Amino acid sequence: MKIAVIGCGYLGAVHSAAMSSVGHEVVGVDVDPRKLEMLSSGHAPFYEPGFDELLTEQVATGRLSFTDDFSKVADAEVIFIGVGTPQTEGSNAADLRYVNSAIESLKPYIGAHTLIAGKSTVPVGTAARLASEIESTGARMLWNPEFLREGFAVQDTLRPDRLVYGIGDGDTTSVAQLDEVYRSILDTGVDRIVTDFATAELVKVSANAFLATKISFINAMAEIAEQVGADVTELADAIGLDERIGRKFLNSGLGFGGGCLPKDIRAFQARAEEVGATESLQFLSEVDKVNLRRRDHVVDLAARELDALGSKRVAVLGLAFKPNSDDVRDSAALDVAARLTADGYEVRGYDPKAGETAGRVQPDLDIRSTLAEAVAEADVIVVGTEWAEFKEVDPATLESPAKVVIDGRNTLDRKRWHDAGFKVIALGRRTLEPKA
Ligand code: UDX
Repeated sequence: MKIAVIGCGYLGAVHSAAMSSVGHEVVGVDVDPRKLEMLSSGHAPFYEPGFDELLTEQVATGRLSFTDDFSKVADAEVIFIGVGTPQTEGSNAADLRYVNSAIESLKPYIGAHTLIAGKSTVPVGTAARLASEIESTGARMLWNPEFLREGFAVQDTLRPDRLVYGIGDGDTTSVAQLDEVYRSILDTGVDRIVTDFATAELVKVSANAFLATKISFINAMAEIAEQVGADVTELADAIGLDERIGRKFLNSGLGFGGGCLPKDIRAFQARAEEVGATESLQFLSEVDKVNLRRRDHVVDLAARELDALGSKRVAVLGLAFKPNSDDVRDSAALDVAARLTADGYEVRGYDPKAGETAGRVQPDLDIRSTLAEAVAEADVIVVGTEWAEFKEVDPATLESPAKVVIDGRNTLDRKRWHDAGFKVIALGRRTLEPKA
């Protein structure tokens, strides 16, 4: 089939390559010339495991191309909308300007043969509004939310947990058309839920709200654990064994960041307010507050330890919002590094992949290209992202004057660090004082 994907960020670029890999002819459309140049030459403009290889391979087949020319979508049967919906500056609401302008740009090229399948995360009510905006063209609208996780984007696109189709009244034509696009995925037996526009939009934001709530729940327990000398990791293991609760997304630490969860829970609250259901999502503002308190806590802990040592020198290991990504959007680790720098500490940051992206948003931050350089003169080490590289460090042979480590992700082998002479501070766990 001929397919177009509007927006070539994490979602759109991966979707384009994935759809090409199952045999469709795909054109990805974006307005950013740097991104287009890289994608067209088969190079990923961001780090995502497996994506660069997939892209190179698919561009070489001749089925996958990228352009800034909207007229190239005219013969596409299905057009996916995968543009960003960032947080509006100065408000919690989602900024829909890219979605709106994508629809405007498409209007001259769509008709009765076109299905527009929205994938972007939007406030409930958007799909119905857009459907009525394109009605005069004869094109149809379907909302098909995307649940991919960064770091697993290729796998999540080709082997999703479920497919959700939000359709207009009795629009079986669109369901059949999207089924054809996803044939090879559907053949694996994946669950497919067909529902209305509003429910499909809500599935996405409520899933993210639930995940954020789970993380803040365990982080709230970490706060309590710290007060009473309990251990939040053992607590998570124990409650997680109850299948109704589950152990996933109960890792306490610096909390959630990234381009999705933080802005999605805020946009969801803003939308609830608009539809007269403010109170229903009031708890999400607590979820947000608990989450942001973890960053304050780590900044305070690092400052306290440094001040006690009469030192300013600290290494922050990890700058990405999560491992296996170079994304630093709303990254808790980067926030901690930037705040300590702003407070006058001499911070050296390091991340296996996100050094460059972090440097672009925080040019004042001293970012080193190796872990060894970052820790070489540090008196305190803070782990901000749970990269495998940090877990594998042998603290006994680490060349660093540091004797204090703050594990902001509960990722290190505490005993090993303790045995190597460190004071080990882990969030929501008992501090291990250095051995005498
Ligand atoms: C999320 C959703 O998981 C995905 O389904 C949706 O499509 C987009 O948003 P992503 O932003 O890639 O995906 O990251 P995710 O793996 O959900 O992690 C979000 C944040 O939560 C990260 O900062 C991570 O470090 C943090 N996290 C995750 C925790 O602090 N504890 C956990 O137990 C899990």
